[in-house]
Amino acid sequence: MEDIELLQNTFDLYMKKGKEAKEKGNFTLAKRNFMLAGETMMKMAKLSQGSLKEARMTRARRIVELSENIDQVKEKKKSEAEDDEVKKWKEAEIPNVHFSDVAGLEDVKKAIKIRMINPVLYPDKYKLYNKKTGGGVLLYGPPGTGKTLIAKAIACEVGAKFYAVKGSDIVSKWVGESEKNINSLFEEANKQDRAIIFIDEMDSLLGKRGNDTHNDKRVNEFLQQIDGFAGRNPNLLLLGATNRPWDVDSAATRSGRFSQKIYIPLPDKKARKFMIEKNMKNVPVDKNFDVDKIVEQTKFYSGADIEELCDRAKDEPLLKAIAEDRVVEVTNKDFDNILKIFPPSVSESELKEFEKYNADVEGLIKKIKKKK
Ligand SMILES: Nc1ncnc2c1ncn2[C@@H]1O[C@H](COP(=O)(O)OP(=O)(O)O)[C@@H](O)[C@H]1O
Ligand SMILES: [Mg+2]
Repeated sequence: MEDIELLQNTFDLYMKKGKEAKEKGNFTLAKRNFMLAGETMMKMAKLSQGSLKEARMTRARRIVELSENIDQVKEKKKSEAEDDEVKKWKEAEIPNVHFSDVAGLEDVKKAIKIRMINPVLYPDKYKLYNKKTGGGVLLYGPPGTGKTLIAKAIACEVGAKFYAVKGSDIVSKWVGESEKNINSLFEEANKQDRAIIFIDEMDSLLGKRGNDTHNDKRVNEFLQQIDGFAGRNPNLLLLGATNRPWDVDSAATRSGRFSQKIYIPLPDKKARKFMIEKNMKNVPVDKNFDVDKIVEQTKFYSGADIEELCDRAKDEPLLKAIAEDRVVEVTNKDFDNILKIFPPSVSESELKEFEKYNADVEGLIKKIKKKK
C-alpha cells in the first residue's frame, strides 16, 4: 500500500514537472519527465489488479506516446481530440435492441421496469402513488451475461439516446482534460428529451478509495458530477455495469447515485434454449438436431459463450458446404466437437465469488427490511 502511495506522489511530481517544462517550451525536459511519469504509472499498474491494472497500463502507454510526440503536439491538436469525443457523444442514438431480445432474466427485467422504465413512461402514475424515482442502477455479474445488452434495451424501451462510456477509457484520459469531457457528456445528455448514460467498467472508474490518492481524487470528482446532474432530470437515467462489484467504492452506490445493485447471473436453461434457438433460426440443421441436449451441455456458459459456440459449430458444415457445393446440415456432433475445445469463460471459482457477493447483498437487503 505504501508503495502505491509513494509511486503516486512520484507520478504526480513527474507529471507536474513535465507540464511546467512543456508550458515553457522546453520539450526535451518535458519529454524526460513524461517518460518517467509513464514508467511510474506502469509500475503502479503492476501492483494493481483487474480492470484498474488495465486502465493504468493504458494510461501509462498514452503518456509515453504523448511524450514521444511532444514537440509535434500543438495546442490545437489537443482541442481537436477533445472535440472528437464530444462529437461522438453528439452522435448518440436510440439503440435498436428490445427487451424481448434479452434471454431469460425475468426478475431483472421486472425490477428494471419498475425502477427505470415505468417512471419515464408513466410519470403521472408514479406521482399518484408517491413513488420514489431517480438514482442509478448498477448491473453486476460475470462477463458476457448481457449487461450491455440490457442497458441498450432499456434505452430502446424508453426511447432514450444511449451515451456509453468505459471506465478505463475515462481513467486513461484523466490527464486534466477528462473532467471537462465528462462534464460535457452530462451536459449533452441532459439536453436530450430522454437519455441514458451507461458507464461500463465502473470498478476502474469508481474504485475503492483509501490507498491511492489519484483514484480518490477522481472518484470524488466523478461523484460530484453525478450529484450535480442525476436526480434533477427524471429523463436522464444513469446505468453502470461491472464484472468486479467488490471493487466499486461504496460511496458510488449511496442513495441518489447507483443506489440499486442488480445481479445479472449466467443464463438458466430456459434462457440458454432461447439463445441457441435464436442462433440456429433458419439455419439448416439435422432432422434429429436436439437443442435440449446442448442446453444440458452448457450449464456454466455465458450468453456470449453460447453465441460463440453456436457460431463455431457452424464452421465445419459450412466449409463442407462450400467444398461440395451442397447444403450440409449442422448436427449435435458439430456442437460436441466445439464443446470439447471450448470451455466456459467464467470459471467455477469466479462464479462462486459472484454468488457469494450476491448472497451478501441480498442478506443485507433482508436485514434492512426486517429492521423496518
Ligand atoms: N441474456 C442474454 N440474452 C441474449 N443475448 C445475450 C444475453 N447475454 C449475453 N448475450 C449475448 O452475448 C453478447 C455479449 O453480451 P454483453 O451484453 O456485452 O455482456 P456483458 O456486458 O454482460 O459483458 C450480447 O451481444 C449477446 O449477443
Ligand atoms: Mg459489457
